[in-house]
Amino acid sequence: MYSVITGWGMAVPEKVLTNADFEKMVDTTDEWIISRTGIKERHIAGPDETPSTLGLQAGRMALEKAGITPQDLDLIIVATVTGDYSFPSTANLIQNQIGAACPAFDIQAACTGWIYGVITASQFLKTGAMKHILIIGVETLSKITDFTDRATCVLFGDGAGAVVLSASKTKGGVLGWTFGSDGSDPERLYRPAGGSRCPITPENVGKSETFIHMNGSEVFKFATRKMGVAVEEALQKAELTPHDIDLFIPHQANLRIIDAASRRLELPPEKVFVNVEKYGNTSAASIPIALCEAIASGRVRQGNKIAVVAFGGGLTWGALAIEWTAKHS
Ligand code: UT7
Repeated sequence: MYSVITGWGMAVPEKVLTNADFEKMVDTTDEWIISRTGIKERHIAGPDETPSTLGLQAGRMALEKAGITPQDLDLIIVATVTGDYSFPSTANLIQNQIGAACPAFDIQAACTGWIYGVITASQFLKTGAMKHILIIGVETLSKITDFTDRATCVLFGDGAGAVVLSASKTKGGVLGWTFGSDGSDPERLYRPAGGSRCPITPENVGKSETFIHMNGSEVFKFATRKMGVAVEEALQKAELTPHDIDLFIPHQANLRIIDAASRRLELPPEKVFVNVEKYGNTSAASIPIALCEAIASGRVRQGNKIAVVAFGGGLTWGALAIEWTAKHS
């Protein structure tokens, strides 16, 4: 069996913060943010918008597109590091709200989470154990962002993207994959407080350690080194090479990182999908949102070979080689 994408959907909060808004909040400029990251604006969740509300919207769209009902789902996987609660899982909440009766769990691999979810789901589909799985990547990083720290606050945005992966006898869908983890230095990108090691207390509430901390240049170097290698590994498993790629959808974190990966893979700009300017880095939601927009803009056609790749906290990384088959349209 093959595991193919049969449905897709996305949701972002209404509120938008532009670079001009950040110029009023911290010591930064529109010029710095655009030249260093490519970001112009990002969507920010309101008090009532959470991973379960955004994930639910994206998930419903994906089911509709796939032409299946919630009862057809065999599993729901949600990739997030900002779930509604520490527990139960956000997948658990969405399972009830969407009206499904299947198992549901969260995956935590930071920005690589959605790819981890797709790889996990594919195994259940390829063995024939399951028929339809909903995988949602959703994040509200704004809720753990220090809006006085210019080095991180301008980078992130909130949103959700979802796909339905279905079992198919026709060749296509996720043909190759790779994922990895290097936990040797978790402090390159992490939230120091809020877990069991350093719980939120009256003493640290609102302090820097309760927000995202990042060694930006270390993560930058890692990403530019790893993205091309990961794509090549995933393509090799699908018996493809970078020359076969029709569309490259990289994690939307930083335009300079995207450009470096595209150069390494010798891909011209017309084969690379970029929307980082509109959403910033939405972490686990970044690739499924980009996929939805690539489809909506007519850049995904039957038979296309698509490579996707992400990197993130952990550090983690992952890539997929996908063939867009007739079942998609
Ligand atoms: O999904 C994974 C998530 N993480 C990432 O993708 C992050 C990867 N890293 C990056 O994207 C880049 O490292 C950043 C965009 C975060 C930073 O760009 P950079 O070119 O590596 O800048 P830098 O950290 O080396 O900082 C250069 C200067 C510093 O000033 P000094 O020390 O040279 O005086 C920073 O303080 O830029 C300063 N700076 C800013 N200036 C204006 C940092 N943030 C800002 C800002 N506005 N927002």
